[in-house]
Amino acid sequence: MTDILVSENIVGAPMDALRKSHEVAFEPDLWKNPARLAECIADCRALIVRNQTRVTRELIGAAGRLQIIARAGVGLENVDVQAASEAGVVVSYTPVQNALSVAELTLGLMLGLARKIPAADRHVKAGGWERLRYSGIELSGKTLGLVGFGRIAFLTAMRAKAFGMRLLAYDPYLDPDALTVTEAQPQLVGLDDLLAASDFVTCHLPSSPDTRGLFTYARFCRMKPSAFFINVARGDVVVEADLIRALHEQKIAGAGLDVRAVEPPEKGPLCEMDNVILVPHIGAFTAEGQHRVVACVCRDVEAVLSGRPAANYVNFPLPKQR
Ligand code: MLT
Repeated sequence: MTDILVSENIVGAPMDALRKSHEVAFEPDLWKNPARLAECIADCRALIVRNQTRVTRELIGAAGRLQIIARAGVGLENVDVQAASEAGVVVSYTPVQNALSVAELTLGLMLGLARKIPAADRHVKAGGWERLRYSGIELSGKTLGLVGFGRIAFLTAMRAKAFGMRLLAYDPYLDPDALTVTEAQPQLVGLDDLLAASDFVTCHLPSSPDTRGLFTYARFCRMKPSAFFINVARGDVVVEADLIRALHEQKIAGAGLDVRAVEPPEKGPLCEMDNVILVPHIGAFTAEGQHRVVACVCRDVEAVLSGRPAANYVNFPLPKQR
């Protein structure tokens, strides 16, 4: 009988180790078929997912033996945590394990935009050598505005500091005495002030009723025409049609997007813009980051199935009697 169901592509040595002690069903495409998923989960004690499996109240209801839902990542918008808690199921996740990878991608997108690297690459591969056309700007001396100041933003800030950037941060939930603030020393400002003063605006917000649709046309218009917008957090925080309009009207200089409102996105106007860098939600996808993430979820699953508490739970460490 299957003990552990993996409904997305989650692999690696820690997963192989889990297979030695448990019956694991690895179904990387199962998230695409909710009806089959509900059948497969009926007898499972653990479900391991990324962000594509919709772990709904109905699915949890169909999983009478479920003890733990382990999310290989930090965002929990695809898991009905309330329904899991009501059903006595532990929800665990990986709060910091991929943060460094996402921070490094943020810097990669900033550098890519500042130096027009993807566009220059396409140009040379097409036979061109127009050096002045691909002249860019330095990060040094520029202002980075971090919207949301959690772990990823902190790691981004520390690296941007090494590039000689000035730091602004906006986060209404931030404790101004937090160690991350003491360490990175961003100037804490309101969102409008951050948008107006930054040369790069990076978004590190989770998706929530407060943040969805935050970046509107009006907000892009507050930015400098020379500024770049980068989203490595959640796509629905941006009104994509407004971003496209702002780019068309040159209200901002360019954008780097790792995440989209709908994933995978349709091909659209952003694909035609040379000043836009698009990547397929790969912020967390590094060998090191994924090793930490997979090890972390496997540890929590192993613990709970052996009657020990999960380390990275969001509701409670041990399953409750159903
Ligand atoms: C996360 O939430 O950890 C990242 O966005 C990666 C993912 O969703 O799998």
